[in-house]
Amino acid sequence: MTRTIHQTIAVRYDFPVIFTRDALAPQNSALAGLFPPCTPAPGGCGTSPQQGCGPHRLAAVLDDGLLASFPDLGARIEGYFRHNPVASLTAPVLAVPGGERAKADLSVFQSVLDLIFEARLCRQSYLLVIGGGAVLDAAGFAAATAHRGVRLIRMPSTALAQNDAGVGVKNAVNFFGRKNFLGCFAPPFAVLNDFALLDGLEERERRAGLAEAVKIALIKDAVFFDRLFADRHALKRLEHGPLEHSIERCAELHLEHIATGGDPFEFGSSRPLDFGHWSAHAMEEATNGALGHGEAVAIGVALDSVYSHLTGLLPADDLAHILEILPDLGFTPWHAALETLDAPTAIESFREHLGGRLFLSLLTGIGARVEVSSIDFAKMQEAVAILRERFA
Ligand SMILES: NC(=O)c1ccc[n+]([C@@H]2O[C@H](COP(=O)([O-])OP(=O)(O)OC[C@H]3O[C@@H](n4cnc5c(N)ncnc54)[C@H](O)[C@@H]3O)[C@@H](O)[C@H]2O)c1
Ligand SMILES: [Zn+2]
Repeated sequence: MTRTIHQTIAVRYDFPVIFTRDALAPQNSALAGLFPPCTPAPGGCGTSPQQGCGPHRLAAVLDDGLLASFPDLGARIEGYFRHNPVASLTAPVLAVPGGERAKADLSVFQSVLDLIFEARLCRQSYLLVIGGGAVLDAAGFAAATAHRGVRLIRMPSTALAQNDAGVGVKNAVNFFGRKNFLGCFAPPFAVLNDFALLDGLEERERRAGLAEAVKIALIKDAVFFDRLFADRHALKRLEHGPLEHSIERCAELHLEHIATGGDPFEFGSSRPLDFGHWSAHAMEEATNGALGHGEAVAIGVALDSVYSHLTGLLPADDLAHILEILPDLGFTPWHAALETLDAPTAIESFREHLGGRLFLSLLTGIGARVEVSSIDFAKMQEAVAILRERFA
């Protein structure tokens, strides 16, 4: 005799994604405003045990690459919470290695766990993490797993992290030499994007976010694409106003997709946000990271756009606009790694990464896409040749 009880659980997540400047200036209330007013809970570990109610417990993690550009950041965090006593730092601010090193092994994950333990954070306490996508991923994984989850406040500090990596619901570290092998889905408590942090980045890193902006505009929002196109010369100069608008809209579209795309925790195989990414991942790997993610995505987007045209999906006019905006933004839609790209292997590894069947987004217009499950590799070679001829 078999009996099945069908269990259904719906969990709602709400979190703010805030855009501001100089978030750690004492008079900027965006960060302080995230902490709920304290309610008396004698001995509750989110509060000061002595008083029964006091400031929330907090620990902070900083990306050391970011710290190199802003050496006073640790002191600024301490000063902010002295001036705004909504939370109290219960351990010294921890600096961790930035960039892919943060995820390459478990050392940053472990040191953030040590910090959470030392600071005696509980599920009602806060971990503030300021850094690039790699530090956010590793520290976020520690926050998500310690006590099965302490409250994570992310402050993404790269353009790519502000418009993509830092606003989503995923955390991960690399393991068994495989990217993002170990991780989990865990929405943050809040995301605070401080545009002033981007001033610490080199020009190339500030530009990198524009590739994701073009990508998401192409698959989702023709109006945004038109705006990027109109602003392209100002964007190439990395002017604050247009750059910040592009980050905000790109982040907003990523957030909208996660909220309304029907699969926030990626149970299925379809990943439209990975448009142009199958070849980008392969080129990043083949060049050992010499080609940055944004630069590789710009090439991948160009390649899949040309391919979309060759298969009869994308009108020539639209393709012309795409092949115009990318170089105008300062990207080169070509790299020698494209010449040696083994497309069938790269596609298969992309499919394996997503799990299940292959789904690849192609464009049917600006802001419109379809999904396909197979690739005509001869046509893909033709697309490579077209980019070589025009941009090599
Ligand atoms: N969780 C997700 O949904 C998601 C999505 C996309 C990408 N990612 C991950 O994000 C990572 C890439 O993140 P990224 O592009 O932000 O780069 P990154 O984290 O690798 O940082 C790049 C470099 O910039 C430095 N840095 C960071 N902020 C700085 C600042 N303001 N001034 C000066 N230097 C600064 C870092 O120390 C590092 O050396 C990858 O590991 C990728 O897998 C995660
Ligand atoms: Zn990307």
